[in-house]
Formats: sequence, C-alpha cells, structure tokens
Amino acid sequence: MVSRVIPVDTFDLVIFGGTGDLARRKILPGLFRRFCSGQMPDEARIIGAARTDFDSKGYRNLVAEAIAEFGGKTLADCADLPRFLERLEYIKIDARGDEGWADLRDMIRNDVITAYYFSVGPGLFGDLAQRLNSWKIATSDSRIVVEKPFGRDLTTAKELNASLAAEFDETQIYRIDHYLGKETVQNLMAIRFGNLLFEPLWNSQYIDHIQISVAESVGVGGRGAYYDKSGAMRDMVQNHLMQLLCLIAMEPPSKFDPDAVRDEKLKVIRALEPVEPHELVRGQYSEGPEGPSYREEAGDPKTFTESYVALKAKIANWRWSGVPFYLRTGKRLKARASEIAVVFKKLPHSIFGDEGDEGQNILAIHLQPNEGITLDVTIKEPGPGGMRLAHVPLDMTFAETLGDQAEDAPDAYERLIMDVIRGNQTLFMRGDEVEAAWAWTDPIIEGWQRRNDVPKLYDAGSSGPDDALALLHRDLRKWRDIEP
Ligand code: BG6
Repeated sequence: MVSRVIPVDTFDLVIFGGTGDLARRKILPGLFRRFCSGQMPDEARIIGAARTDFDSKGYRNLVAEAIAEFGGKTLADCADLPRFLERLEYIKIDARGDEGWADLRDMIRNDVITAYYFSVGPGLFGDLAQRLNSWKIATSDSRIVVEKPFGRDLTTAKELNASLAAEFDETQIYRIDHYLGKETVQNLMAIRFGNLLFEPLWNSQYIDHIQISVAESVGVGGRGAYYDKSGAMRDMVQNHLMQLLCLIAMEPPSKFDPDAVRDEKLKVIRALEPVEPHELVRGQYSEGPEGPSYREEAGDPKTFTESYVALKAKIANWRWSGVPFYLRTGKRLKARASEIAVVFKKLPHSIFGDEGDEGQNILAIHLQPNEGITLDVTIKEPGPGGMRLAHVPLDMTFAETLGDQAEDAPDAYERLIMDVIRGNQTLFMRGDEVEAAWAWTDPIIEGWQRRNDVPKLYDAGSSGPDDALALLHRDLRKWRDIEP
C-alpha cells in the first residue's frame, strides 16, 4: 500500500520550552520527520522560545544534536536536515516578565496559521496565555497546545481550564494525550466503526469482560522527583488508560467529528461507577534482578507513591451493565507491552461436548510494541482422529500486513502536531472530559490518603503485585499474558 502524505498549510509554530526534554526528544524530531515526508511545507517556521541564552544559530545546533540523538534510523537517512534547520528561529523569552514578547510579536506572520505549544509546566500555562493576548500576538484563529499533567485533581484542572478559557476559546485549545496519537489507538475506532462485524456483538450480551493493560519495563529513572508527586494513578490511569477505556466503550458517534466523538467519550466517563477499595490494587516496585527499587529511584526511602495500579471499572449504562473493565498499568514490569483484550462470553452450548467448552473468542488489540490485532477463534485441529478442537489466534500484525506503511507511520506527537495545524481537535481532550476524568479519579486517591494505604511491593522485572492476580481470580477470570 502506498502511504498518502497530504501537506498542511504554512504555519508559524512557537514552542515555549523549546530547549526542554519533550521538545528535544519528541516534538522537534517529529517535526523533522514530517518535513522529510513532505508534509511540512518549506515556508513553515518553528520558533523555539525559552529562558536560555541562545541565538537562532545556537538553537539550530541544539536541534541538530537532538535529532541525531532521538531521531532514530529514518531520520539518519533523510538528507534534508540543513533545509529543515533553516526553518528554525529562537527567541529568549520570560514567561512571567516582558523580555522577548515584543520580538515574538514582530517575528510572527499574520497571514499564516499560528500555533503556540506550551511545552512547560502547567504553572506557566496561564502566564503564557495571558501574555500572548496582552502583547497582541495571538489572534482568534491561533491555536494553543498544552501537555499533561493537566492538573493534579479536579480543583487544579478547573483552575487551569479557567485560566486558559479567560484568554482562548475552547476551539483554540489542544490538550494533548499522546496515547490518542498512537496509530493503533486510532485503529480502535476504525475497527469498531469501520466494520459491521464487531459492533452488533459489542455489548454485555456477548462480551464477558475487557482488559486494558499498559506495562512498561522502564522505571521512573531520572523523573523520580516529578513522578513521586504523581504516581501511576495520576500519571497514566486518569489520562491514557481512561482514553483507551472511552474509545472501547463509547457509543458510535454520528460522525468522525471532534465534538461528536468527544461528547460520546464524555458520556462514558460520566457513567463510570466509583471504584470500591477492594477493587483497587496499588503497587510499588522493590529491588529486583532488573533494577533498583522505586524508593531508591525516587530518592525517598519512605515514599508510598504507587508505580502500579490495577482496578476494576464499571460503566453504569445499558450497553455495559455487568461487564467489568479491568485496567492495569505499572513501571518496571517484565516487559513493555500494551494491549486491549475484548473477551467474549463462552458458548451457550457446545455441540462438541467438553471439547468446545474451553474456547472463548478474544479480540486483542496490541498497542505496542508489535502493533496489530489478533482474534482468537476455535478451529478443528488439522489431521485425522475425529473432531478435536484447537484455539488459535488469527494474527494481523500491522508490520507484516501493511509493510513499509506501518513502519513509516508517524509517531504520536508528530501526528498530533499536524492535527493542530489542520485545526482538527478530534484527538485532543476537551476541558469537560479532563474534569470528568478527575472527578472519577479524585475519590480513589483521597481514599488511599485517608486510609494511609501502603502499596504492595512487587519485584522489579516481575508481573506486578500478587494482589492484582487476585483481583481477577475472585471473579473467576485471569489476566492475559501480554509479553510481546
Ligand atoms: C507518559 C508518562 O505520559 O507516558 C510516562 O508520564 C510514561 O510515565 C509514558 O512512561 C508512556 O508512554 P509510551 O508512549 O511510552 O507508552
């Protein structure tokens, strides 16, 4: 299959925090990849803005180094680096003062799309938004892009939403959850709503339960100080896992349009029941063959922050009544592997006697590392010897089926930035969605605090705490083995 690249219109993209970690690791290499693919027009410009003393030449060197370090193989093959670097400018700016703002105003072109990426801590969102307007830099067509963490609870999320809403319309605000930019995550929607096959079965009559697993093999590493104030619930469940749950559980939107999709996601979040304490497992990794303990990495020998969460979520609506959604995510687990498994009910009656009892259809959407879909089906075991049954996966690994097209797929950030330029908010979280997600998450975290909950330890490099196994065993179910 030939991949189709549709160039976007010319733009000026300002990256506040343009020298920071996210800009160097993801945003700039991603933009370079879009440039190499022909999607970013030659006249587009990227303006790094930060406190560091740089001129544009120094910034171009920094970006070239970042691309060499984080760009991967495709980038090493692209000969366009000098041309891309020419598209870069730099402005030294003080987010809380006056320095740099007049220069930025002079630099921005009025006749192209303008976007402002706040790749900075949420404490600066309000200051930046306010200055973009008071210096008359942004227009009613400008877009602002903000990163997670979007608040640390409902109160702070509301404050952030209010500080942005004071300056920009909701249609101008792009809240990034990079999971929504992942190829397979969007495929969830294509699979559900682009095929007739699944949707009639997509309900409590045919589905037994759903498992959403996001396992990481890395620990918190150098991010210990940030992470320790957050924990897996705030860092992963409130946003990434919640978004996956929404896409799996939402009603079909009437069209693939930003508000139609986000309205349906919001209904799912609002229908979530509170989680009971016995349906929650919190874990923290201890030292193991694969690495040091969480406490050592976080630099606090007494911290009770969780690096693992498993829970049973329930959606109180007609479609999902009685269907548990088991969610789990953790760091320093035995492998990096993420998937969503839709486990269908057992046959109501097997004409094959005991032979047919075992099989359960499972649709597994493998998010990473090997993106693809498998559908477990029951077939006749080949060969003579009567009707013996086997349960096998129909395997569609995207790299095999789609070849280069799957390999060249843009990474989540680059796709999302291009959507900002196109003005398409479908894959971005709306303010009310974020608030609803916090409204569900807050009581869980408050409950842990009230009960002085101590996380269960699990060995670094293991599958997580034993209590997470018990969460499903109690319901006579078990987690899938999701090693890649
Ligand atoms: C980030 C979290 O949002 O997502 C990190 O802050 C986590 O803690 C990361 O490691 C996981 O993203 P991915 O794309 O590697 O699955």
